[in-house]
Amino acid sequence: MADYYKQHWIDIDDGRHAAYDQILAYHPALEPLIKTLDLKPGLKVLDVGSGPGHTTLELARRVGPSGKVTGVDINAEFVARAGRRAKQAGLNAEYVESPFPPLKFPDGSFDRVWCKNVLEYVDSAADTVAEMARVTRSGGVVAAVDSDWDMIALEIGAAARERTERILAASQGIAVHEPRIGRRLHGLFRDAGLTEVKAEIFAGADTVGRALPMLKASFARYARDSGKIAPREIEAWLADIDSAVAAGQFFFVLPQFVVRGIKR
Ligand SMILES: C[S@@+](CC[C@H](N)C(=O)[O-])C[C@H]1O[C@@H](n2cnc3c(N)ncnc32)[C@H](O)[C@@H]1O
Repeated sequence: MADYYKQHWIDIDDGRHAAYDQILAYHPALEPLIKTLDLKPGLKVLDVGSGPGHTTLELARRVGPSGKVTGVDINAEFVARAGRRAKQAGLNAEYVESPFPPLKFPDGSFDRVWCKNVLEYVDSAADTVAEMARVTRSGGVVAAVDSDWDMIALEIGAAARERTERILAASQGIAVHEPRIGRRLHGLFRDAGLTEVKAEIFAGADTVGRALPMLKASFARYARDSGKIAPREIEAWLADIDSAVAAGQFFFVLPQFVVRGIKR
């Protein structure tokens, strides 16, 4: 399917929703990334591709009741679940179901615009970053967080190395539109006319298998859906991953590029 990279976000079954609640849960390791937004009480924030909304709630906590966070996402169920979560938490966050680009908000409507792990999936990352800049007020902050598929390191033992490479390549080939988005962000921010553009990379080593939900619900699933890897090979790969975790031989690094710029 030519537009699987987009369609797989529109069609998400309950099992995958449950997996994303784990994969995209808030974790204190996100703090230095969120810090780039320089959030303060009272600010209006847009979360571009808000997903299940766990991070959105953390942004809402920081802008307080006098501020507001708006999440926008292509998936209707994400929007509904995130809205219920915000209500339960008593936080000022609202969610809008809409594909992008373009972003359906007026020029300069937000003080801060945030986009985490989304730009690899959109039809045009350049147009989306330009839209993020457009909806930010003068002097406001735009920040994006993304990975880069050429910088993924997964070690589960020498015997599985070749299979790992094929599975990651098959997964990347179908699931993402711009696999090298991490290294492109800095240039895209400059092209969008943002100033004081700064890039940082955050990378923690997962040696205990925290990434298992992602490897199973995303990478393995994408590789299976690509039709390029036999299902029994994927099962064997997942078993190798479990064995590596059990043996203390699992090692996974997924660097996160964090780029921030100021709207003129
Ligand atoms: C990996 S999730 C990240 C969610 C959230 N930013 C987080 O970090 O928890 C990617 C999100 O982007 C959304 N998305 C992908 N392509 C989109 C598009 N073209 N328009 C709107 N949302 C999109 C998906 O529905 C999904 O919620």
